Amino acid sequence: MRQTIDVALPKGRLGEKVLAIFEESGYPCPEIHRESRRLIFENADAGIRYFWVKPSDVAIYVERGAADVGVAGKDILLEYVPAVYELLDLGMGRCRMAVAGPKGFRDNLERTLRVATKFPRIARDYYARESREIDIIKLNGSIELAPLLGLSDVIVDIVETGTTLRENNLEPLETVAPISARLIANKASYQFKTEEIRALAEAMAASLERKKENTP
Ligand code: PRP
Repeated sequence: MRQTIDVALPKGRLGEKVLAIFEESGYPCPEIHRESRRLIFENADAGIRYFWVKPSDVAIYVERGAADVGVAGKDILLEYVPAVYELLDLGMGRCRMAVAGPKGFRDNLERTLRVATKFPRIARDYYARESREIDIIKLNGSIELAPLLGLSDVIVDIVETGTTLRENNLEPLETVAPISARLIANKASYQFKTEEIRALAEAMAASLERKKENTP
């Protein structure tokens, strides 16, 4: 008998696009489109149950097995390194993790570099590879403010269009990693629901491929 797959979807604009891919891949859920404050939606016939979670929490639900699969940004996967399987790059929510700083910034190697970021592990790993000594200043948002107020020399943050940087007289200096949304799976679920999860990942890969072919 086919087992139901529990899916943690990231709330928000990316989540709507991600849901569309699931639905086009043979896992529709009419319920989820009805105005409602419910958080869990099931289509038993399609063998799927969806729930909306805060995007940065998806990996936690999947790692702990509250969801069998989910969609999380590569930024979260690099920062928290959850013990999950990464099954598919959805190619959505594309952006990059970058070092940015004031226009014309020149690093003074004689001083410890002060780096403000929401992603301390990603920043630490990056500068360790560069053998550069740094001081991490962990912030929770509006990272761009830090160099403007002299709290840090540079930032490590997500750059999508570059508008936030430009409007604050900052510029991208180095790319740390390309980022996009990934389909992830709980490790135990993958053992117990192997066929169901594989079929889902394959159907999604095929949907994405079709989309690519139809985009000029
Ligand atoms: C991200 C990031 C930048 C902005 C970059 O912030 O931290 O501030 O988006 O986008 P852009 O290059 O298109 O301008 P987010 O919206 O996630 O908010 P937060 O920093 O408050 O978490």
